[in-house]
Amino acid sequence: MSFPAVRLRRLRRLPLFRKMVRETVLRPEDFVQPFFVRAGRGLRRPIKSMPGCDQLSPDQLLRDVRVLYRSGIPAVILFGIPSTKDPLGSEAWSADGAVQTAVRLLKGALPDLVVMTDLCLCEYTEHGHCGVLKKGKNSRNPVIDNDPTLELLARAAVSQAEAGADLIAPSGMMDGVVKAVRSALDSAGFTETSIMAYSAKYASGFYGPFRDAAESPPRFGDRKTYQMDPSNTREAMREVALDVAEGADIVMVKPALSYLDVIHRVKQRWDLPVAAYNVSGEYAMVKAAARNKWIDEKAVTREILTSIKRAGADLILSYHARDVVKDLK
Ligand code: PBG
Repeated sequence: MSFPAVRLRRLRRLPLFRKMVRETVLRPEDFVQPFFVRAGRGLRRPIKSMPGCDQLSPDQLLRDVRVLYRSGIPAVILFGIPSTKDPLGSEAWSADGAVQTAVRLLKGALPDLVVMTDLCLCEYTEHGHCGVLKKGKNSRNPVIDNDPTLELLARAAVSQAEAGADLIAPSGMMDGVVKAVRSALDSAGFTETSIMAYSAKYASGFYGPFRDAAESPPRFGDRKTYQMDPSNTREAMREVALDVAEGADIVMVKPALSYLDVIHRVKQRWDLPVAAYNVSGEYAMVKAAARNKWIDEKAVTREILTSIKRAGADLILSYHARDVVKDLK
């Protein structure tokens, strides 16, 4: 009888041995917790398709963020739900908008917290698209007009920076947005405000619950003329290359789980931090299966988040962050 020459099981024998040779370890600092803010006081509206997440008024947001901050999570990203929507999405740059109010409150109470703001028009426009519309030449539906959208996004970015945002995250997939936001911030004196570009953002079915949460589904058509085709990775490299050239400080791949190969390729090729967004649909699937007792929520959540980090993500935006941090020792 011959013995196996190498025995990999030796180092798996003891829990502490396994811990010592672990290659990927989650830390609280890896995470960014997303929140949905709407104007008002004392407001806490559960989001049905995202169990554990609520639409919050700024005061309630601060309560939750205090707890989160104590647990070691360094950053939040805010999405706004406006009180009124219009064709241009003008509440996006209102100094008294829900996001601007929330940023002022958070930075006033927790100056060291990293406050990020999502920058997009879809929550603010009555048509629910991420840009302004113009009449289509060859289509019955209107089309999303890239360059006029950039001017509005630049305005909204400056108003978020004025409120005190540390980082602006343009998520609308308009061409040239990073350059437009960078130059608007610089001209307004916000040279220290960072940009995290949603560089490779795919036209994904996994955003469904978010659109409930942010009340932002497109009223007609879909987002395929600006978000990426899930089949493409070389195109993702072009998106990232442009955002890097335009001055992004961090680049993002979104969603995360179906795009681990993209995260990996981006990480191999560029030296700036790579973020991944573990999106609403990915979260909702885990919650739904766990509620049915079909999976072990803790184990699956940790496995998913570890896989995202293992693929190359330096930052992970995830609704699971506040749950998972409790078990990170
Ligand atoms: C807005 C935006 C979306 C998400 C983040 N920013 C929705 C969309 O593009 O339709 C999705 C986040 C999630 O699903 O968790 N452009």
